[in-house]
Amino acid sequence: MGQFLMNRRLLVVVALSVLVGIVAACAPNPRSQLISPNMVPVGAGEEFVPPTPTPVPNIANLTEEEILLGLDENLVSLLASSDPAQGQQLAVANGCIGCHQLDPSQVVVAPSWYDMANDALIHASAGEGPAAYIYHSIVAPNDYIVAGYPAGIMPQTYGETLNDEQLMHMVAYLLTLRGDETQ
Ligand code: HEC
Repeated sequence: MGQFLMNRRLLVVVALSVLVGIVAACAPNPRSQLISPNMVPVGAGEEFVPPTPTPVPNIANLTEEEILLGLDENLVSLLASSDPAQGQQLAVANGCIGCHQLDPSQVVVAPSWYDMANDALIHASAGEGPAAYIYHSIVAPNDYIVAGYPAGIMPQTYGETLNDEQLMHMVAYLLTLRGDETQ
């Protein structure tokens, strides 16, 4: 009886192994299925060259000229003598941080300022650097609508209630907000 049970167990094990073998043999080669041979020309003597990843834009890699691209001359000189600490105070005093949080996970009403400088780099249109983008976004918020946010929420009046000197303090402050690299 015990012998018989052992034999049955053995039989089941053998049958399962054969089944696994058959299934494995029938499984398609994932490489041949997913990657067209035209996309990966790996012939004899050829080496597979992986595609170069697109570098993530980082404001730290920009020259000063690139940061200031498209900014009016008078604003460039105001920015040169601006103070990010004053900009931060102005952002608090003018209620910006009621909508814009610094915490990246707190995106409720408006885009987070956690990585504002690099976001500006990404959102800016051609011929415009991050400084000009931020200035423009404050004085004419509806000229650019950040994807995923409605127009008309951000007050349209900052260009009138704040002067260029104050606005450039805030631009200077926002340019220091660089995600993990924020000093
Ligand atoms: C009532 C809410 C609200 C207040 C207050 C507010 N904003 Fe905004 N802001 C928004 C919203 C919503 C957007 C995204 C839609 C858009 O592009 O207009 C935005 C977009 C921006 C952007 C572009 C962000 C990006 O990621 O490209 C900047 C810069 C900005 N605001 C600066 C400011 C500054 C500076 C102040 C204060 C002086 C301010 N905001 C006050 C709601 C607000």
